Amino acid sequence: MKIRKAVIPAAGLGTRFLPATKAIPKEMVPLVDKPTLQYIVEEAASAGIEDILIITGRTKRAIEDHFDKSYELETELEKSGKFDYLETMQEISNLANIHYVRQKEAKGLGHAIYCAKFFAENEPFAVLLGDDVVDAQTPCLAQMIDRFNTYKSTILGVQAVPDSETSKYGIIKGEELGDRMYTVHDMVEKPAPGTAPSNVAVLGRYIITPEIFRCLEETTPGAGGEIQLTDALRKLAKKESVYAYDFIGRRYDVGSKQGYLEATVEFALKRDDLRDEFLQYLKKTVAQTDAK
Ligand code: UTP
Repeated sequence: MKIRKAVIPAAGLGTRFLPATKAIPKEMVPLVDKPTLQYIVEEAASAGIEDILIITGRTKRAIEDHFDKSYELETELEKSGKFDYLETMQEISNLANIHYVRQKEAKGLGHAIYCAKFFAENEPFAVLLGDDVVDAQTPCLAQMIDRFNTYKSTILGVQAVPDSETSKYGIIKGEELGDRMYTVHDMVEKPAPGTAPSNVAVLGRYIITPEIFRCLEETTPGAGGEIQLTDALRKLAKKESVYAYDFIGRRYDVGSKQGYLEATVEFALKRDDLRDEFLQYLKKTVAQTDAK
């Protein structure tokens, strides 16, 4: 079955990025000049996704405005002959069919995904977390869909992380199959240091079968009083095959300050219009800081 639909949960509170996220969704914070969420929507669209459901919440209205058509702005850009900008604006509203549903309370990622039950309509669907950006030659989701076409079951996007960082992620317990694939027997959400079953972490990309909704219905609030997607995926792994795929690409957690800064600098350095001047500035700043 073709993966046509994607869900982007973007209803979290973004507490790690306060005060910026008090009134602005963290998914709208830009990397250079493009909101994080646009990189994610572009990744989904380039992987052939036709319909995207963004799970939003309070203070997230800017997300809908961003992906909507802006007649006044487009008319002004046309009048003033700024055709490059005009084209860029038109491309944003044509990326995919974007739908929205509000998660009334931030009760966890599992609860957010459950809000997509009616959208999924019993089809397997993709999930891209609103604060995980992956820079890859072949878009991460396209790689995952390629694997889904072979394995035809739930696939979690994973990468190995340093042992010292396993406590920040959902960690899989599984068996390596080769060719970057694992079978997943179990998972642990944010294991206490030294207790992780592996160093293979789930990083913001999933393809999930609709059986997950039944698993979510059976899932009670876990860590932090939230409905954890990891807990529902554990149940799913007991009912049907769950795989993990070690995707190729550089992943940034832009919901953390360090990840955001790294992505901003590295994305700026990849831009032809910014690279030379920005690199010179960075070198000068680093030299001055080192000399202090
Ligand atoms: P995070 O835990 O990274 O997001 O959730 P957060 O809760 O906004 O972050 P902090 O810790 O408070 O800074 C991963 C993804 O799940 C979404 C978030 O928007 C993010 O994209 N999410 C999380 C929801 O949509 N709803 C929730 O209840 C929780």
